[in-house]
This record gives sequence, structure tokens and C-alpha cells, in this order.
Amino acid sequence: MLHVIDQDLTSFNTLGLRSHARAFVRCESADQAQALSDLADDYRHVFILGGGSNVVLAPELDCLVIKVETAGVRLLRETDDEWIVEAQAGERWHDFVEHCIAQGWNGLENLALIPGTVGAAPVQNIGAYGVELDQRFHSLVAWDMRDRRLVEMAAQDCGFLYRNSVFKQAEQGRWLILQVRLCLPKAWRPVLNYPDLQRHPVLQAAGERVTARQIFDAVCEIRQGKLPDPAILGNAGSFFKNPVVTATAYEGLKKTHSDLVAYPQPDGTYKLAAGWMIDHAGWKGSRMGAAGVHERQALVLVNGGGANAGDIAALADAITADIAARFGVELEQEPVKVGWA
Ligand code: EPU
Repeated sequence: MLHVIDQDLTSFNTLGLRSHARAFVRCESADQAQALSDLADDYRHVFILGGGSNVVLAPELDCLVIKVETAGVRLLRETDDEWIVEAQAGERWHDFVEHCIAQGWNGLENLALIPGTVGAAPVQNIGAYGVELDQRFHSLVAWDMRDRRLVEMAAQDCGFLYRNSVFKQAEQGRWLILQVRLCLPKAWRPVLNYPDLQRHPVLQAAGERVTARQIFDAVCEIRQGKLPDPAILGNAGSFFKNPVVTATAYEGLKKTHSDLVAYPQPDGTYKLAAGWMIDHAGWKGSRMGAAGVHERQALVLVNGGGANAGDIAALADAITADIAARFGVELEQEPVKVGWA
């Protein structure tokens, strides 16, 4: 297991922030878990890195970074009603979704083109176009770096919430997720309630005969239309969560902003479209130093070239303060901060 001292991480985070790790090692097999714990004893902190698409890395990380690069997908079990599919944590999420669709294991099509790895998907409970990972989740296998044991966790153990889980709340570096298992029901039902999908001409024309592949293609097209490709313009997807407010707060805002976009939640609260608020406040396409707000999706902050974590934080703070002043709503950052004091 080759272990590198002083590793440049600029190409390992999709925001493209300049960052150095004190030490770096690749995890290429789940069997290395114990050895990784031994290695971690020599460092004060550990950070587990997947595709680097949901992190804001500080310039200097005084820790051991473990980059998960394990590969493999298999059908773990098939019953009359469902497929249980298992993927190694290092698999690219989108490739995994595409592989499932090609096999006829449908149900992940709304989650096409989400950047990052399979192992990172449960950490922030990825979601898009009306589906969240926890709705398709079966279980996962993780190595507990602290207690040095292999743990199998069902959905109820993972504490899934909107873009949140026990893994995001735990101390960084504790959980090395090794395999993730999805439960895909054979009685497939398309999820088409999201406005962008309802409007899509191919899906409209297909009507009742719509296929998972058509939804997969439509989601790819919609995402490519508004979300920047990190290979071209550094970004970490949505930079803020959509804030959830009480019905009273929502009614109050609606009086002053009649076109406010919000989604009613089952518990009577409302999820506000932060992208709409940031756009409405005039930030879309703006720049502050090397950091910027994407010109087609105001919820996405971009690295305009050579930005570091401080540039991104300064822009994020300015937006947060402005939204609080205009709407009385506190935005919460979505990507994980790593190595910040
Ligand atoms: N909007 C604007 N201006 C903007 C951006 C959005 O007016 O600049 C409006 C849109 O017109 C729409 C509403 O705000 O009416 C919501 O926008 P959109 O459908 O683009 O989705 P979002 O709420 O901004 C969320 C997720 C995305 C996910 C999409 C689709 C979060 C934090 N973000 O974004 O997830 O792909 O819905 O389901 O929940 C991610 O987490 O990184 C991510 C990209």
C-alpha cells in the first residue's frame, strides 16, 4: 500500500481548489481496511475522499487522506419482487446508475449524472428530480476506523435526512464506507412529478409507455443544460441546501415575493428554492475575486480560475448575509468543509 507524503489535491476536488494533504493513500481493495487503520495511527486526523465533488478543501490539510478507488458491481440477490445490487464504494455513481439501467435494474434513473462515487452517495443522501438515495437504499458495509470493526448498516442506522446522514455528522474519517447495496423493485414505477421532467417533450410524448432509459436520458439532458461540468468549470454542485421554513414564515415571504418558489413538505413545512432567492437577489453570473456564481444555476458556486477555499468562503458568506437580510432566511452550506480551523 503506497503512502505518499505531501500530496497535491487540486485535481482530486471538483471545485479545483488548491490544497495539499500531509499524507495520502489509495484504498484499492476493501481488504486494506485494517491496514489503513494501522497507518492512520500515525496521524492526528483522517479524511476519506471519494470523487471530491462535495468538499471545500482548505489549502493545507494536516491529515492522512484516504482516497477510495475500489471497483466492482454485482447482483447480490434477486427475489420475485426486487433486485439487491451491490457496488464497491469507489465506483463512479453515474457509471453505476448507467450499468443498472443497462441490466434492466431500474429505479436509479432520476439520479443520473450526479458527480462523485457510490461510497459518497449515502454520506449526503444524494437526491435529484424527485428521488433520494434513501428511497432505494438497502444497506451498506463500512469499516469503523475508530473501533476497528466491520459494520453492516440498514437504512434506519444511517439517519438519512435531506442531504444529511450519520456519516456527515460523525467525526471526519471515522467511517470508511466499503460497499453500498441498493434495493430496486421489479415493479418499476416512473417518478415524474418534478416540473422539469413533466415539461420534457420526450417524456410527455411517451406517456404511459415511458422507460427508465428515457428518464435517464432526460435527466442527463436537463442537468447538462444548467449544471456546469466540473471538468470545464470547477464546482461542487449545489453550494447551499434548500432551507426549510414553517408555513407561517412561508406565508409571510409569499406576501412580499409572490413568485417565490417553494415545495410543501409532508410535515406542513416548506422547502424554499435557495437558487431562486440567490438569483432574485441578483447574484447569478456575478464574480467576487476568483470565485463566482454560475450563470445558469445560482445555487452553484464556481471556481473562475485559481480560487482557493478562502475565495469561495468569502463569496458564500456575502451571499448568506444578503439572503438573510432580504428574506430573513439562513442558508446552510451543503459541501463538507475539510481542514478548516
Ligand atoms: N431557480 C431560479 N434561478 C436559479 C436557480 C433556480 O429561479 O438560478 C428556480 C428554478 O427555476 C426552480 C427552482 O428554483 O423553479 C429550483 O431549481 P432547480 O430545479 O434547478 O433545483 P434546485 O432546488 O436548485 C435541487 C438540488 C439539486 C438537484 C435539483 C433537481 C439541493 C440543494 N439541490 O436544486 O441537487 O439536482 O434540485 O432535483 O437540494 C446537489 O445537491 O448538488 C444538486 C445539484
